[in-house]
Amino acid sequence: MSIFVLGINGSARKNGNTAKLLNKVLGYARKEGAKTEILHLASKDIKPCISCIAEENCKYPCNIKDDMQGIFETLKKADCLVLGSPTYWYSMSGLMKNFIDRLTACDMVEPPLLDGKVFGVVSTALKEGSAQVTLQIIAPLTSMGAIMVPYNDVIENAGKVWRTEFGINPEKRLARNLVNLAKLVKEKQGKWF
Ligand SMILES: Cc1cc2nc3c(=O)[nH]c(=O)nc-3n(C[C@H](O)[C@H](O)[C@H](O)COP(=O)(O)O)c2cc1C
Repeated sequence: MSIFVLGINGSARKNGNTAKLLNKVLGYARKEGAKTEILHLASKDIKPCISCIAEENCKYPCNIKDDMQGIFETLKKADCLVLGSPTYWYSMSGLMKNFIDRLTACDMVEPPLLDGKVFGVVSTALKEGSAQVTLQIIAPLTSMGAIMVPYNDVIENAGKVWRTEFGINPEKRLARNLVNLAKLVKEKQGKWF
């Protein structure tokens, strides 16, 4: 069964710490037999959400025409998402927040576009705040029907990934669990809406 893992880099830097961490996870996903792609939000024209939903006028694939329509097509093909964000003042980056806001249009179809997609999160920081970033990303994604993978987060502070004393490689574990869970979901054609 072929699994497609899409990494989404919410950093302003395409070769920064977040991209490196994401690429590690994607590399391990390939070793698990998955196809992978990385999407750099910084390379895309993604305008801020204008809250059409407040006037009951939020529509898929969004009233704003920019690069999001192409991104929705890529999202449709993905079985797994890995959202990567640097910590910017104890929050996810503006690029990632903007992107997540624009995913609101995905909820305007049945089943919602993210329904049953398996996701994990990687976040980086110089010092502290990356756990908040992870939590901030988990809430909207699960709310939009995506399934959080077990041991879903890989957090890197000051260039160091937090590792357990059990010799576990968190990037590898995230990749393995993403691919395995996506296979289970696909096998069952799991739709949850
Ligand atoms: C605007 C801004 C705000 C930041 N705020 C924090 C912070 O609150 N906590 C922290 O530990 N690092 C903070 N950092 C550092 C970045 O999280 C860190 O350098 C990160 O790894 C950058 O990711 P990148 O290499 O993908 O660009 C901040 C950086 C920027 C540019």
